[in-house]
Amino acid sequence: MAARKLTREQADRKNSMRSLPQLSLTNREILEGVIGRFGVDRKSRIVRRAGGISLNFKRHLFRQQLEFINDPCKRKAAVCSRRAGKSFAVSRYLLQEAIDSPGSMCVYIARTREAAKRILWNMLKDADRQYRLNMKFNNAALIAALPNGSEIIFTGANDSSDVDKLRGSAFTLAVLDEAAFFNIDLKELVREVLTPALLDTDGTLAMISTPNSQCAGLFYDITEAGDYGYSTHRWTIRDNPYMKEAITAIERDIQSGILNASDPAYKREYEGRWMKDDRSIVYSYTEQNVYDTLPEDCFWEYVLGIDLGYHDDTAFVVGGFSEDLEQLYIVDEFKQKNMLTSDVEEMIRHYQSKYDLSRIVMDTGGGASKMVMETFKERTGLPIAAARKSSDKVGLIRMLNSDLAKGNLMVKRSFDLLKEWDKLQYNMAGTGEDRRFDNHLSDAALYMWMESRHYLFEEGVSAPKAGSIEYYKQMEDKIEERLMREEEEPAGHDESLWGAGYANQDAFFN
Ligand SMILES: Nc1ncnc2c1ncn2[C@@H]1O[C@H](COP(=O)(O)OP(=O)(O)OP(=O)(O)O)[C@@H](O)[C@H]1O
Ligand SMILES: [Mg+2]
Repeated sequence: MAARKLTREQADRKNSMRSLPQLSLTNREILEGVIGRFGVDRKSRIVRRAGGISLNFKRHLFRQQLEFINDPCKRKAAVCSRRAGKSFAVSRYLLQEAIDSPGSMCVYIARTREAAKRILWNMLKDADRQYRLNMKFNNAALIAALPNGSEIIFTGANDSSDVDKLRGSAFTLAVLDEAAFFNIDLKELVREVLTPALLDTDGTLAMISTPNSQCAGLFYDITEAGDYGYSTHRWTIRDNPYMKEAITAIERDIQSGILNASDPAYKREYEGRWMKDDRSIVYSYTEQNVYDTLPEDCFWEYVLGIDLGYHDDTAFVVGGFSEDLEQLYIVDEFKQKNMLTSDVEEMIRHYQSKYDLSRIVMDTGGGASKMVMETFKERTGLPIAAARKSSDKVGLIRMLNSDLAKGNLMVKRSFDLLKEWDKLQYNMAGTGEDRRFDNHLSDAALYMWMESRHYLFEEGVSAPKAGSIEYYKQMEDKIEERLMREEEEPAGHDESLWGAGYANQDAFFN
């Protein structure tokens, strides 16, 4: 009988099926699942019986993921596009390492603990179910333990207390996810914490990330300038056979003009290429906005801005202004995770006694924060107000930037706020901040700035004179802001394609 001729679509489907790794469990894998459950002794016996081959997750990875994991280099990096399968690859890498080296410790480090949990915790749980590994997940400590005594620890690089806990440990594998987006000095983390911790076992350090828009930092130096001898891998979403639908969506959006393939943001996010792009930076300060010492002999008034966090940082920023000066000076800052209501109250009292604050503004955006604010007001008797909320945060930031450009907003050189401003970038649609960056001090500063501005205005700073250049500039800004608001439509964000934990505006298209 003559072979049936396949249509082109059928042939394509058949070929794409062929390129997908097989996902069902073989008898060997079920057997190897048992290995995971019964510690070291049983493991070696069963492994021997199974032909000396340990549990092989790698069968389910595609070529670029495998090449990265199998690379024998002890220092390696992968610079990829979004949704390339970076995190999935390292989830299996960590498991493989933990199973192959009983009693070992591996660490997975993301920007924050919450990000670490959001990105990888469920991937590990899925693998535990899929391979019946009988792992124990400590949700509070974020430690996944295997029956063979190995542990995979999850942590956040931006939290120094978390990082401190890593000192003195010995790891066989350390993975840094989204390494281009850490707010800390990555060099210091590698030099002072991870390198010593990898010495005992001659362990491996693996960094993965999409590029950042500043084209700067250790991950840039490693993957672009070729510094420090890391073996660098590159692949994109187009190599990930599990993202075929997203690739079709991208093609469609390029065709319809929603996406511009020559845009630097496109090249970074979809092609994983380093492309510098100052436009995407949210706060544009320069050296003229940085001070070392405050002007003397002024009568200062102070405003405190607070961005309340629950799992995230709670941030405090104090601004000082004086009728002798045009500038608003940021004079104090503090941020910390997991602050209890009583801790926040103590900080407010501390700033109150230090600065005799004229106003306190607090973000009452989410959850129970409005109630918390009322509690503070009642308990402290202090002038605490809700931060003015605007549906147009981008527009507000633009106004703050214009104050920065005029040299009217000053920040102390050593402040972490500047580190946030260095990194914080807009999402690809330009409709909001990219969620991968910290913005807590920035938000506290924004609330404080809005309140001080309003205060200054009340105190007699006049609105621009009708007909003046300033007046028309303000009108123009208002119209522009309104048009931008009208253009913003809610984006359809399919979590299954683009990953959990991203807001609509974080999707590539809107
Ligand atoms: N080998 C694989 N087997 C099955 N699914 C996979 C595999 N590799 C990646 N995926 C799937 O592809 C999608 C993207 O993977 P992943 O989240 O690892 O990408 P990423 O590059 O880390 O993306 P992001 O830039 O959003 O962090 C996920 O839905 C993931 O489950
Ligand atoms: Mg990821």
